[in-house]
Amino acid sequence: MNMLELSHVAKRFGEKQVLRDVTFSVPEHSVFGFVGKNGAGKTTAMKLILGLLSSDSGEISVNGSTVCYGTTKTNRFVGYLPDVPEFYPFMTPREYLRFCGEISGMKAGEIESRSEELLALVGLEKDNRRLKGFSRGMKQRLGIAQALLGRPKLLICDEPTSALDPAGRKELLDILADAREQTTVLFSTHILSDVEHICDQIAFLHEGKIVLQGTLKEVRAKRKDAAVELELERPEDAPLLIRVFHDLKSKGRGRFLLEDAGRLPELFRFLADSRISVLRIERREASIEDLFMEVVGK
Ligand SMILES: Nc1ncnc2c1ncn2[C@@H]1O[C@H](COP(=O)(O)OP(=O)(O)O)[C@@H](O)[C@H]1O
Ligand SMILES: [Mg+2]
Repeated sequence: MNMLELSHVAKRFGEKQVLRDVTFSVPEHSVFGFVGKNGAGKTTAMKLILGLLSSDSGEISVNGSTVCYGTTKTNRFVGYLPDVPEFYPFMTPREYLRFCGEISGMKAGEIESRSEELLALVGLEKDNRRLKGFSRGMKQRLGIAQALLGRPKLLICDEPTSALDPAGRKELLDILADAREQTTVLFSTHILSDVEHICDQIAFLHEGKIVLQGTLKEVRAKRKDAAVELELERPEDAPLLIRVFHDLKSKGRGRFLLEDAGRLPELFRFLADSRISVLRIERREASIEDLFMEVVGK
């Protein structure tokens, strides 16, 4: 079953058409990567899912219920970590979670047991400092604990890794991967390596539309062949090679890309016959980054 579905969603701010036609669905218990450049409309889409903004057209459902702007009916299924979470600086992590549990009407015993479980999940169980001394990474981790407090069916995290250093990013991605056991995770990012580590499914948002989506394997398969990189020992041999292999793309001094890997035997034969020495020849798997660049046409 799909925990979240967006169907032909459009949103305009004044003259600016931010989302044109956004359709995708997030299967239950998956980790779904919502990828797009800065300004692509990721935060806008998330606010529509939370009913914090009204869409111009299209439909959104969470856990089978339609999202209506301004009513929070579907938000009882959702935990949300905004892009810049704010905390009361004078509280400790435990006090903060107790406060959040109390205002959402949880029972004291439940707040305590759930807080301990979640602080352990995000690695803050031993930290009793006040939040004003917390790093960005620690704040993001506490934000995830808070978002999971009410056992949401869908956890939405808006660029949770953007402000973090590589070590902090890895910790946070590991937490999201662990959270999959108890919920469905939708997170946005403009960092493509993030999605390669933990996502089951990804969708690329570009110019108001989803331009590519599927499992990592499906998305990779959409690319043509894996290309072959070739580097000559003597760059002066390049003209000889290009005369026969017109489709080689030059990548700088003596370096080429052969996009049709099927021509490799022919290339080897020619190199041997012409006594062209090779420094390096390598089959290159498409990274998600290559794919994204291909799709957005840069
Ligand atoms: N409340 C708003 N009013 C006018 N324009 C907005 C508003 N919110 C976002 N935008 C514009 O919509 C575009 C998408 O923004 P956003 O959803 O924040 O992108 P992302 O999260 O992918 O970086 C941007 O050009 C932004 O300036
Ligand atoms: Mg954003």
